[in-house]
Amino acid sequence: MAFPQSFLDELTARSDIVDVVSGYVQLTRKGANLFGLCPFHSERTGSFSVSPDKQIYYCFGCKKGGGVVNFIMEEENLPFPDAVRFLAKRAGMEVPEEEGDLEAGRRRQRLLALNRDAARFYYQLLQQPEGRAVQDYLDRRGIRKATAVKFGMGASPDAWDGLLSAMVRKGYTKSELLTAGLAVQNRNGGLYDKFRNRLMLPVIDTRGDVVAFGSRVLDRSEPKYMNSSETPVYSKRRVLYGLNLAKKTKRPNLILCEGNLDIVTLHQAGFDNAVASMGTALTVEQTRLLSRFTKELILCYDNDGAGKTATERALQILNGSEFSVKVLQLPRRLVDGAYVKQDPDDFIKFQGPDAFERLLNGSENGVEFRMAQVAEKYDLTSDEARVAYCEEVSRLLSSLPGAVEREIYTTRAAEIAQISPEAMRLEVQRAFKRRARQEARTELRRDLNPAVRTQPQERSLRYANIRSARAEEGILRLLLLDDSLFPQDPPLEESQFSSPLLGRVYALLWQTRAEGRPVALGPILGTLTPEEAGHISALCQQPESAQNARQALADYIRIVKTEADRRAGGDADPLLAATEKYKQGGKRHV
Ligand code: CTP
Ligand code: MN
Repeated sequence: MAFPQSFLDELTARSDIVDVVSGYVQLTRKGANLFGLCPFHSERTGSFSVSPDKQIYYCFGCKKGGGVVNFIMEEENLPFPDAVRFLAKRAGMEVPEEEGDLEAGRRRQRLLALNRDAARFYYQLLQQPEGRAVQDYLDRRGIRKATAVKFGMGASPDAWDGLLSAMVRKGYTKSELLTAGLAVQNRNGGLYDKFRNRLMLPVIDTRGDVVAFGSRVLDRSEPKYMNSSETPVYSKRRVLYGLNLAKKTKRPNLILCEGNLDIVTLHQAGFDNAVASMGTALTVEQTRLLSRFTKELILCYDNDGAGKTATERALQILNGSEFSVKVLQLPRRLVDGAYVKQDPDDFIKFQGPDAFERLLNGSENGVEFRMAQVAEKYDLTSDEARVAYCEEVSRLLSSLPGAVEREIYTTRAAEIAQISPEAMRLEVQRAFKRRARQEARTELRRDLNPAVRTQPQERSLRYANIRSARAEEGILRLLLLDDSLFPQDPPLEESQFSSPLLGRVYALLWQTRAEGRPVALGPILGTLTPEEAGHISALCQQPESAQNARQALADYIRIVKTEADRRAGGDADPLLAATEKYKQGGKRHV
């Protein structure tokens, strides 16, 4: 990390986790901790806890956890350095910028400048004779000049080095062009333009930076779309095409579609609230981005198998979240006696904006969409199929958490199956009880199994030696509980820990201590991955008694030593023993 440790220590000391979290989550005190609704997953009862003493948060539901920096990284969707700057601004602290940081920042700025210059180059080409083919294509698709300008559309030249030479002339290096994903290297090491003879669609983030490009061929050849690969300034999980424009909409919601050109057509038709996830399934990062601008989403994926799967997955991600979600299903269109799917672009073209507005107003919610999916599977004229439908739909209805919601859709399902509402209600109740029993059983199993309880969620962090790991956890908890417990010299080597993660945190605690800095978890958690931070927060949330702490610490140390000796002695080959220690647990049998 490029920030000086003393700065990070002061920053975390001056950013009280309760104050910071309270800006996002309503917290209520329960005993030593505060609880609220988890901002990272959807829930109705608060399993999100904040410990003012330990300055950590932990969600018992989704197992996310960490210190104040982790919280801001997660919540504001920021990388570590930006989260640090965010908190520094909040605390009114000046950020010491280091050489390395400035260098990385400068490189990012260069890439963004290169992207912007490339976008300008493509844009200008579109206005010139070389851009004729792309302009014709836009005309054919009914995309007006003003719309093309608004989206910053362009044309890539039908040549191997059109962009390349223009950008090199502007002073960009070949390596920058490669990093930006604008040039590709051939086997002999020569570079050529990645995008050739295509309609160029710059991907612009909500800050207004060109972070990437999408592009479409002008004919039926493949691949139809070509997009920038991931770069230091572009992660496709975190961007939505068109959000730079849609964020300014006056409409109350945002419409989520699959295709870039769907967005273009929708905006042109007055639906300036449409965004696209560019052919990938909706990600959690994208939902967080969306939540800054709206709490109301309308899913408008294609009406085909892939689109329905995408809808189902998006509904799962959004299930019970702060968003109210609706599904807009585009009807199929009759062409030459067969029904074909339409995307928003087709629909606007053939049915017009008013018809789309009507669909928008009448769009169904997630439950209705799922019920229709179930109904579609059965031919409800046969008694047998109706029985099967009732069974399946009651399973779906039993998963709805609200009693009123369950009641409303139960009546609806009864109408569809043409049975009495009472019969349907009984069926749903039975399914509901079955579900509750099942959930209780899984929970019981989980509680009865201490190994499962103490095992980290993340597979790569799984403990190889539970007995030792439990003691290792205890050591960390005690040292954090009371730093007067630190002996004069470290009683254990990092390598004696069976869990590499726990060993690493132990070593960091000692280092903090040795440097005379205050021993706190916050600054350490900031250096871990989200999975690691979550696990360490989880185990530190468990209580550890301050009574007999010294004795307990000695006991834990003894266990870790015994287990470490046993491992070392048990392995005849010392080289094997050494590598074994560094292997991430999980696969090894104890
Ligand atoms: N996509 C992609 N690569 C492909 C095909 C599609 O990245 N080979 C992404 C693009 O972002 C595209 C979206 O998936 O916009 C939806 O694909 P599709 O429905 O095939 O494209 P449309 O947007 O409908 O394009 P068009 O109307 O121009 O055919
Ligand atoms: Mn299309």
